[in-house]
Amino acid sequence: MPEAQAPNVAGTVPDVPRHVAIIMDGNGRWAAARGLPRVEGHRRGVEALRRTVRAAGEMGIRCLTIFSFSSENWQRPASEVRDLMGLLRLFIRKDLAELHSNGVCVRVIGERDNLDPDIRRLLDEAEQLTCGNANLLLVVAFNYGARDEIARAVRRIARDVASGAVQPEGITEEMIGQHLDAPDIADPDLIIRTSGEQRLSNFLLWQAAYSELVFSPVYWPDFDRATLEAAIEEYRRRERRFGGLAAKTGS
Ligand code: FPP
Repeated sequence: MPEAQAPNVAGTVPDVPRHVAIIMDGNGRWAAARGLPRVEGHRRGVEALRRTVRAAGEMGIRCLTIFSFSSENWQRPASEVRDLMGLLRLFIRKDLAELHSNGVCVRVIGERDNLDPDIRRLLDEAEQLTCGNANLLLVVAFNYGARDEIARAVRRIARDVASGAVQPEGITEEMIGQHLDAPDIADPDLIIRTSGEQRLSNFLLWQAAYSELVFSPVYWPDFDRATLEAAIEEYRRRERRFGGLAAKTGS
């Protein structure tokens, strides 16, 4: 699909946000609460992801971005990193055909250079296979960190400055946005974080400038259509001003 979405008009909140981004948190605590190994929480997290992708498509959400492995997640024990990589392999191998037949377009953001070659290949294949689909754009943030994304963008612009193609005075917010990992995708309208934690943890820092943030107490493996609808209900109650004035009251 990749569609450049027009930002919502200040003060109006459409029934369903076009772009929802999710920090899927709480897999480990979900498992610990049940005396299960952490990997079981991640496995059940993949099931929650399947449910959520399905629900998002049915509800008319155009773009769903998920934080599935952060650049900081490498600091976890090697066995857990292996488990998470294994789950990504499994998710793509097992679910790609179904995602494709449901018209889901998969895009990946994050640093790919230091990933295992087979994972890089799987991510490339998923993007190539599904790039013509238009029902739902699923953006997988994998080996992703927002500061890393911004640093990579700045390095690219710095090269253009060094070559003389760009003057320092010519660097604009738009130019920085154009050098991020998915410049054609509009900023998220709504960012949901599960598990009760209330921070962005290096997720979409540039793109989150005007996003509404909703924090759900639910651990990610328990997330489902009802929790997604509840978050969207909260989003609907918000009034987005984008730095301007309120639409109705002018205050
Ligand atoms: C946070 O739970 C979740 C993650 C670190 C990764 C999210 C991964 C999945 C949902 C499964 C993998 C899916 C793909 C497509 C790779 P946590 O471990 O930080 O939970 P905790 O804070 O309770 O310990």
